[in-house]
Amino acid sequence: MVTSVIPVIAIDGPTASGKGTVAHRVADKLGFHYLDSGALYRLTALSAIRRGTDLNDEHALAKLAEHLQCSFQGGDIILSHENVTEAIRAEEVGNTASKIATFHAVRHALLGLQLGFRKAPGVVADGRDMGSVIFPNAVLKVFLTASVAARAERRYKQLIGKGISANMEDLLMDLQARDDRDTNRTIAPLVPAEGAHVLDTSNLTADEAVAQVLQWYAAIGK
Ligand code: DC
Repeated sequence: MVTSVIPVIAIDGPTASGKGTVAHRVADKLGFHYLDSGALYRLTALSAIRRGTDLNDEHALAKLAEHLQCSFQGGDIILSHENVTEAIRAEEVGNTASKIATFHAVRHALLGLQLGFRKAPGVVADGRDMGSVIFPNAVLKVFLTASVAARAERRYKQLIGKGISANMEDLLMDLQARDDRDTNRTIAPLVPAEGAHVLDTSNLTADEAVAQVLQWYAAIGK
């Protein structure tokens, strides 16, 4: 199949908007591949932290990104033969990912990896710039959002559920700082792509959000 006709569903949104869960379930329902683009920025961040790379050195960070030895195996994420599925979810790694994602050279280095996920029968791509930059010709673009309070509460429950201690005030501050950085950067900022359906999930369950996305997808071409 010619790559450009393989359907892409782009699901973008801020941190803890529920896009990971929704994108994953939509992919499962449709039998599509799933691209967690945030994981690629997190893998680069984790590599940089572990190697002690200067987090202001755009060139060195881009080199790391370009040579990432990673693979996605079922639900597991492997970096240089190590299972880092849990490690990349740490708050420090997420915050570092958000910082290094402001560098053009890092974003460029991760481009090919992301495009490689476009395989038959289709892909659900989750991130910040899936619909605006990486897959501008996605058949469906969704921008998931939720209030800062709802997102902080979700993140809090996630962390507590994993046995990680968390403080609501710190989480709120981190979320706001991350939103500001992701939204106000000059390259590929977090904004709804042109033609995106905006879905506020503050008062929706994950199942309701999934049902809405599937309904939009089913309505294409009708
Ligand atoms: O979705 P996430 O929280 O795992 O992403 C971590 C960081 O990576 C996010 O704060 C910004 C960056 N990111 C990005 O700039 N572009 C993407 N497509 C995905 C993530």
